[in-house]
Amino acid sequence: MDKRESCGNSVAFKQPHGTQIEFTEQKQELSKRTANTGRRTLSHSISQSSTDSYGSVGSGSSEDESSPRDRSQKTHQGLSDFCVKNIKQAEFGRREITNAQKEMPALMVLRKGAGGEKPLAGAKVLGCTHITAHTAVLIETLSVLGAECRWAACNIFSTQNAVAAALAEGGTPVFAWKGESEEDFWWCIDRCVGAETWQPNMILDDGGDLTHWIHKKHPSLFQNIKGVVEESVTGIHRLYQMSKAGRLIVPAINVNDSVTKQKFDNLYSCKESILDGLKRTTGVMFGGKQVVVCGYGEVGKGCCAALKALGTIMYVTEVDPICALQACMDGFRVVKLIEVARQVDLVITCTGNKHVVGREHLERMKDGCILCNMGNSSSEIDLGSLQTAELRWERVRPQVDHVVWPDGKRIVLLAEGRLLNLSCSTVPSFVLSITATTQALALIELYSAPEGRYKQDVYLLPKKMDEYVANLHLPTFDAHLSEVTDEQAKYLGISKHGPFKPNYYRY
Ligand SMILES: NC(=O)c1ccc[n+]([C@@H]2O[C@H](COP(=O)([O-])OP(=O)(O)OC[C@H]3O[C@@H](n4cnc5c(N)ncnc54)[C@H](O)[C@@H]3O)[C@@H](O)[C@H]2O)c1
Repeated sequence: MDKRESCGNSVAFKQPHGTQIEFTEQKQELSKRTANTGRRTLSHSISQSSTDSYGSVGSGSSEDESSPRDRSQKTHQGLSDFCVKNIKQAEFGRREITNAQKEMPALMVLRKGAGGEKPLAGAKVLGCTHITAHTAVLIETLSVLGAECRWAACNIFSTQNAVAAALAEGGTPVFAWKGESEEDFWWCIDRCVGAETWQPNMILDDGGDLTHWIHKKHPSLFQNIKGVVEESVTGIHRLYQMSKAGRLIVPAINVNDSVTKQKFDNLYSCKESILDGLKRTTGVMFGGKQVVVCGYGEVGKGCCAALKALGTIMYVTEVDPICALQACMDGFRVVKLIEVARQVDLVITCTGNKHVVGREHLERMKDGCILCNMGNSSSEIDLGSLQTAELRWERVRPQVDHVVWPDGKRIVLLAEGRLLNLSCSTVPSFVLSITATTQALALIELYSAPEGRYKQDVYLLPKKMDEYVANLHLPTFDAHLSEVTDEQAKYLGISKHGPFKPNYYRY
């Protein structure tokens, strides 16, 4: 059951349409979710994010092969508190960041909207996220809003080296490069955390590794930390577990379950990037091909919509009758994977579950069947069952392997079963802008909340903030919102200025 608390927020920003959201004056509904309430089942390891690959197309990795750890580098300002692949790439990285800014309007509005105010003045944010042009825009927005930041990568493959260099050149201590080893990964986090003269008071995490590391290695830092903002399913799962066990010692905001994350990142981002990932890796024409999508949640819905538009013959597998019924009514045949395994040309997993595609399915698949995963876990496809003596693996191009059966049958495995779009294509900046803005607001909220508003628990952002994030992105489309009259507001029992829906509304 959802517990709800009434609370006020302490930040004020201009809306794109000129009105101002005054979080200080408003009492708002805040969903506080306890550890054991109605969430989907999760089963990721703490370092999932460190090994999942993430889109980093365009980030060069062919430069100097020596480890950045062995090299002494300095910025033009003479700073050396960073570790990136090659600081000389900063200029190129800066251009990438400038381009990304254009597609991230809400963060730019936040910068301007603060009107010289620094809602994050005094904040010392320790971050662990993918280091791409999009996150660079977020990091630099936090700096404009007054925060000091130190950053490490949450993933060993995803760093755009030039962007990391540009961030370092711009004065943010960054510890990350593309192709870190597992050991490098933890070394970077430790260097990021372990600055002797700098103590964090906020954490922005994606995957939970940073939070986990501080708990394990530097627990005393939590005395100063006002809160954690976490984006990923994996990290949120850990936080809820800690909360349930009474081991969570600071408040945390769950960005993953914000409407502005789930309904945009999961659905629209996947709808566009599934095709990009498939085209870049296979070059196959999909019109008329038979495709099965496992899981009809947000990601599955996006993938199905995109592929249907190409003229594919679509099947869906589901365990949940509600999602199965949605798939039926959207015009998809709901089947068991085993029933269609022989005939399909493409299998896409997006369940967040493990071993959804097993050896029994793989045995039936036809020669040339393409297999890929869009879910967060790289265990949706039982790859272990493909690592047997009689099967031969052939790397045919980056991120594309053929698994060859003794009779010559080939299964085309993309991105080694990791997230296809994040491994093999780019993700639309505009969608990431929505999530990044939510992260920034969550940080501001936790940082500026009066003592006692947030306890040692995991919270969702107030719906008012979700609406605010959406509002900031509307001008891009020249969208004109209607306004409720006083009479209509009274009739619906809502405030004229929102929130427009109750917390249980599902969109
Ligand atoms: N690739 C990306 O860019 C991206 C973006 C967002 C989320 N994700 C990840 O994608 C996964 C799915 O996200 P979502 O928002 O769609 O989640 P969701 O919970 O809305 O949907 C998952 C669906 O899979 C179904 N399912 C579970 N086990 C199944 C099984 N054995 N067979 C068939 N169906 C099964 C569930 O009933 C559910 O409807 C998560 O792991 C999430 O972290 C990926």
